[in-house]
Amino acid sequence: MASTLFTGIAELVTNDDLLDGADHAEHLGRLSDAAVVVQDGLIDWVGPAAKAPAADQRRDVGGRAVVPGFVDSHSHLVFAGDRSAEFAARMTGVPYDGGGIAGSVDATRAATDDELRALVGARVAEMRAQGTTTVEIKSGYGLNVGDEARSLCIATEFTSETTFLGAHVVPPEFAGRRAEYVELVTGEMLAACAPHARWIDVFCEPHSAHAFTEDEARVVLSAGRDAGLGLRVHGNQLGHGPGVRLAVELGAASVDHCTFLSEADIEALVAASDTTVATLLPGVEFSTRSPYPDARRLLDAGVSIALASDCNPGTCYSSSMPFVIALAVREMGLTPAEALLAATVGSARSLRRNDIGVIRPGNRADLTVLDAPSYLHLSYRAGVPIARTLEPGGGPQARASVRRRQGTRLP
Ligand code: NIG
Ligand code: FE
Repeated sequence: MASTLFTGIAELVTNDDLLDGADHAEHLGRLSDAAVVVQDGLIDWVGPAAKAPAADQRRDVGGRAVVPGFVDSHSHLVFAGDRSAEFAARMTGVPYDGGGIAGSVDATRAATDDELRALVGARVAEMRAQGTTTVEIKSGYGLNVGDEARSLCIATEFTSETTFLGAHVVPPEFAGRRAEYVELVTGEMLAACAPHARWIDVFCEPHSAHAFTEDEARVVLSAGRDAGLGLRVHGNQLGHGPGVRLAVELGAASVDHCTFLSEADIEALVAASDTTVATLLPGVEFSTRSPYPDARRLLDAGVSIALASDCNPGTCYSSSMPFVIALAVREMGLTPAEALLAATVGSARSLRRNDIGVIRPGNRADLTVLDAPSYLHLSYRAGVPIARTLEPGGGPQARASVRRRQGTRLP
């Protein structure tokens, strides 16, 4: 396979603490006037342009910055329908409680496979166009055996990071029969979905009549673990609650939202920082007019954090990781470097992946180029579409073969 040498990289952020000759301030492993060689979808060489080896082809990125591709470790892309009116109502003060999910469930069940596939493909393409190179996709708008399984099957066409979220809310047809729904999720639905999922997730939220209690969530997660799935939790989104505690207790890879945390929650996350990542989703606070979690405090305490979009029709219909990074800097007290690290190597860690998030030989060649001389512009130029995925271009590429009709498969 042809190798490609990328040159003209004014600033390369590698996130590689061990890279020789790099500026290691803030753990970014930064090189000026750098070059990267890519072969077969993997990084082959990283270093100063003056020392670059020969390659089959050469691409000059024109004095731009290159950063590790964004890892969006939390999204709900498999849905049909429109909930913009719910957003408009929320902006006039109507609070979010998860009740609107039922509308997305109706529309998703009514959509054909091809319609859903096209919707997911367009959303994945939108992410890729903004620099995201890995996406996790959850089910959760089917909420019956057939529609959860087909949501995951469609998601697997676009990513290997698929998450079974049958325990998103109790669907209306099970109103008053919560225990029966939990039995379905942990029985027949899990059996149908586990072959198409890497992870299981649950919306654990005592402040919503629609979501799941601590005990219900423990049953769901334990069943998922027994079926071989890794654990993720939606926790502490709408108020203080048991989500973080439960995620830590069960050794989940990630607990997501963490909007309302007690001192005990923070202590638990610090103690579990080698195991459980706190994934912050500031697009949700933006879109629901909620208080932002204090990411500065979490980092200073020693919590492992990640940033992701949570792209979904209810609480944040934005697929933009640059927007998330800008929010984290402006609203949550992170430096631009900390925000970029959380959106790349931090979210990779939340997916228990070490082949992405860091630009080093042997890792996936997931590169994002910025129409700017420095990564600082990601938050400095908020709202301007400066980030895009750097396609190797030309020559046979492993990635090209997995292009889909409407989008591109992301790992
Ligand atoms: O991550 N909180 C639960 N699930 C999504 C929202 C889903 C929806 O409202 O459609 C979230 O915020
Ligand atoms: Fe979510």
